[in-house]
Amino acid sequence: MSESGQLSAASPAALSVETASGRAVPFDFAPLFAADLPPAAAKSNGFPKYNFIGGHNDPDLVPVGELTAAASAVLSREGARLAMYGLDSGPLGYRRLREFLVAKLKRDAGIVCTADEILITSGSLQAIELVNGILLSRGDTVITEQVTYFGSLNRLTRLGVNAVGVPLDDQGLRIDALSAALDDLKRRGIRAKYIYTIPTVQNPTGTIMGEARRRELLALAEAHGVPIFEDDCYADLIWDGKRPPAMFAMTTRRNVIYIGSFSKSIAPALRIGYIVADWTLLARMLPLKTDAGTGALEQMVLAEYCTPHFTTHVPELTRALRTKLETMMDALAERFGTAAEFDDPKGGIFLWVKLPDKVDTQKLAQAALAQGVAINPGFEWSPDKPYGKSRMRLCFASPSHEEIREGVAVLAEVCRREFGVPSRIANVETPTKL
Ligand SMILES: Cc1ncc(COP(=O)(O)O)c(C=O)c1O
Repeated sequence: MSESGQLSAASPAALSVETASGRAVPFDFAPLFAADLPPAAAKSNGFPKYNFIGGHNDPDLVPVGELTAAASAVLSREGARLAMYGLDSGPLGYRRLREFLVAKLKRDAGIVCTADEILITSGSLQAIELVNGILLSRGDTVITEQVTYFGSLNRLTRLGVNAVGVPLDDQGLRIDALSAALDDLKRRGIRAKYIYTIPTVQNPTGTIMGEARRRELLALAEAHGVPIFEDDCYADLIWDGKRPPAMFAMTTRRNVIYIGSFSKSIAPALRIGYIVADWTLLARMLPLKTDAGTGALEQMVLAEYCTPHFTTHVPELTRALRTKLETMMDALAERFGTAAEFDDPKGGIFLWVKLPDKVDTQKLAQAALAQGVAINPGFEWSPDKPYGKSRMRLCFASPSHEEIREGVAVLAEVCRREFGVPSRIANVETPTKL
């Protein structure tokens, strides 16, 4: 310690507490941690060989060449603007990207909005957090689909918000079940804060809600005074490219908050999503967006790339994804036979699979991981944990066709060993240890 009370380089012993062996004892932060921290993250060991989890994209379909050209062009032209927070475009995000979205959303989803009704976010996960931030307090209730995006559900859990899951059919949210859930809440004096839905290529089921169902949903939500939170993050990935209008576009009541993402159509690591909402709502979200702006370079490159290339890139991507889905469905049929039940999704990157009731997919996930296969167990995807128990979600976008075939074969072996299911693999009767 120096006379001024500062540590000096000349007294290294003062810098760390040392044991007799000379090894520094790390400072103990644990007693200082904030209350209610979520559990510690596990250290990453990289991805397993057969990776069917998460929302990863197809590495061969990232348009690397065009993104490189876009980066170079936009940086040479506008690079000096990086000197300003928010690229001198204000806190809503890079204006050229918002203008691209105004045109894209009008063309694809029928949304009529201005660039000032779009907030660019750091992934649509941040969009979810901002919507939650302005609407939810501990103890609140929201309505979700019976199976839904884990990232949304775990945020609700962390906020201490009660999620009521409403059953789905081949068009998504069932209106009769939603009506019953809303009535039940009303009887108990509870007004849900929002109805969260992924209507266009639902995660994980891959269904699309038709236009008539959307109208019914809007009318029911309106009747109960509950807004709709429309998460459209997979809407670009539809096999036949046809989609109904967004619910945001179907009402003049401004009771829908719409979010989207470039993660699924271009690349998730870019971390660019967006919110479309009335300015009065965005104005309440901006003070909660404390990152001083979403990554500017990513926004610039996306605007430069997407303006000329988006409409040709997306059909190429969906064609490739469709062929991977077919490989996945064939591999499941071959390896699991009738033990794996699934519907052919309308688009997207996931297959939602039901296994026989005796299979616990949480245990299956652990056993499979030890053999290099990662799957998402269904219980994570539902507020109704028992419903998800024998279901699993498989992402087919990022593994190669060969990895899909091999990984499903390993998964079937593990499942047979652990649960006696399937009893036949590739049409060969296999003895089980059970
Ligand atoms: C339905 C849904 N919403 C939002 C997200 C978040 O995506 P991102 O933050 O990459 O935009 C995901 C990611 O998988 C998702 O499935």
